[in-house]
Amino acid sequence: MVKILGICGSARKNGNTATLLQAVLDAAEIESELIFLSDFAIGFCTGCLSCVKHKGVCVKKDDMPGLLEKMLTAQALVLGSPNYYYNVSGLMKNMIDRSIASSYRGIGEYTGMAWHGWQPFTGKAGGMVLCQAAFGAEKALETFKCFADYSGLNLIGEVIASTGNRPVSEFPEYIEAAQKLGALIREAVVRNRCQTE
Ligand SMILES: Cc1cc2nc3c(=O)[nH]c(=O)nc-3n(C[C@H](O)[C@H](O)[C@H](O)COP(=O)(O)O)c2cc1C
Repeated sequence: MVKILGICGSARKNGNTATLLQAVLDAAEIESELIFLSDFAIGFCTGCLSCVKHKGVCVKKDDMPGLLEKMLTAQALVLGSPNYYYNVSGLMKNMIDRSIASSYRGIGEYTGMAWHGWQPFTGKAGGMVLCQAAFGAEKALETFKCFADYSGLNLIGEVIASTGNRPVSEFPEYIEAAQKLGALIREAVVRNRCQTE
């Protein structure tokens, strides 16, 4: 079981988002893994609501259920995306949409609401990384925050890096911000572990 899962919404494996995510994970100094959504076959959510009727089980037979299990067993999630047209990338948004299936596990049992189950990422620490050329990342951050709010993820901090078309490695301030976020995530994971042991 990986403790911190980094999820990259850019397909560029040596891109800025991947670099900053790796800096967060390295600074946390806890077992971690960085995955790229572009390596997963994840179809679009068609809104069929089968997951509502079948306790969170999605009808699609693709890589999303496996990824969800990985997310559910991690103790912290760090999501990273490039800003594409003032929002997260399509890869990231698609993953967020498909993750709704897990919200319908235990429907009615946790909230008493017939239309909503549990918040799947309650108790997990969350970090967000956004990379952009220049502007618009605030709206992308809002998407991440809505995801955290809906899923119960405890958002510890975020890094927004504006680099023009240059590599983020040329910006020590962003690398440092990512390392600080990694240290905060580490603290949260250790604190959670103490509380549950
Ligand atoms: C489809 C597309 C849309 C983009 N939209 C924006 C934008 O709205 N604002 C911005 O500042 N940069 C925008 N960019 C630039 C990327 O956010 C930027 O290059 C980012 O660093 C890429 O991250 P990566 O290296 O991890 O792939 C866009 C790039 C692409 C390919």
